[in-house]
Amino acid sequence: MADRNPALISYLANRGSVSAMKLGAPAPGEAELTEILSAAARVPDHGKLEPWRFIVIEGAARQAYAERLIEIWRGNNPDAGEEALANETRKRGLAPAIVVVVSRAAEHPKIPVWEQELSVGAVCTNFLHAANAAGFAAQWLTGWPAFDTDVAALLGLEPGERVAGFMHIGTPEAEPIDRNRPDIGNLTSHWTG
Ligand SMILES: Cc1cc2nc3c(=O)[nH]c(=O)nc-3n(C[C@H](O)[C@H](O)[C@H](O)COP(=O)(O)O)c2cc1C
Repeated sequence: MADRNPALISYLANRGSVSAMKLGAPAPGEAELTEILSAAARVPDHGKLEPWRFIVIEGAARQAYAERLIEIWRGNNPDAGEEALANETRKRGLAPAIVVVVSRAAEHPKIPVWEQELSVGAVCTNFLHAANAAGFAAQWLTGWPAFDTDVAALLGLEPGERVAGFMHIGTPEAEPIDRNRPDIGNLTSHWTG
C-alpha cells in the first residue's frame, strides 16, 4: 500500500478556484505550460482515445481573441446598452492566458461518447490541480462562448468538437473563493444487498 501523503490529501481537501478576475500576470511560460498540460492529460482514458486537445491563447493573441469575442457578442446582442457591453468586455479580458480544452469525443465501436466526455472533464480538473502545483491558479469557465458557433469557427473547431472548458490561468492575486461544500453523508449510501 502507498504511504499516506498528508500534504496531498490536505491540498485536495482544501482546493478551491481563484476567480479569473483575480488571475494576473505572469501566465506560465512555455516550459511551465507544457508541464501543466502534460499533467492535465494524464487521466484515465478508456481505450486510449485521447478524446481532447488544447488550444492555447496567450500573449498578443489573448487581446485579439477578446476583441473578436466582443465583436461576436455585439452581433448576437445588437440591442445591448453600454453597461452590458462594458460588463461583457470586462469578462472577456479576464486572466493573462486561456487554455481551451476541446472535447473530441466521438462515436466509437467500443467506447461510449459518455465515457470519453468523462475523460475530458477529468483533464479539466487535472488542469486545475496542475496549475496550482506549478505555482499558478486557474478557473474553469464556459459561458456563452462555449456554445456559440461563431466562436467555434474562430477557434478552428472541427465538426463534432466542443469546448469543454476555457481554462483561465495566471498568477493568483487573491485566495480561492470558498463556498459551501457538499455534505458527503447526504450523498453517500452503502449498498447492502
Ligand atoms: C463545466 C464547468 C463550467 C463552468 N463555467 C463557469 C462559468 O462560466 N462561470 C462561473 O462563474 N463559473 C463556472 N464554473 C464554476 C467554476 O469553475 C468553479 O466551480 C467555481 O469558481 C468555484 O468552485 P471551486 O472553488 O470548487 O473550483 C464552471 C464549472 C464547470 C465544471
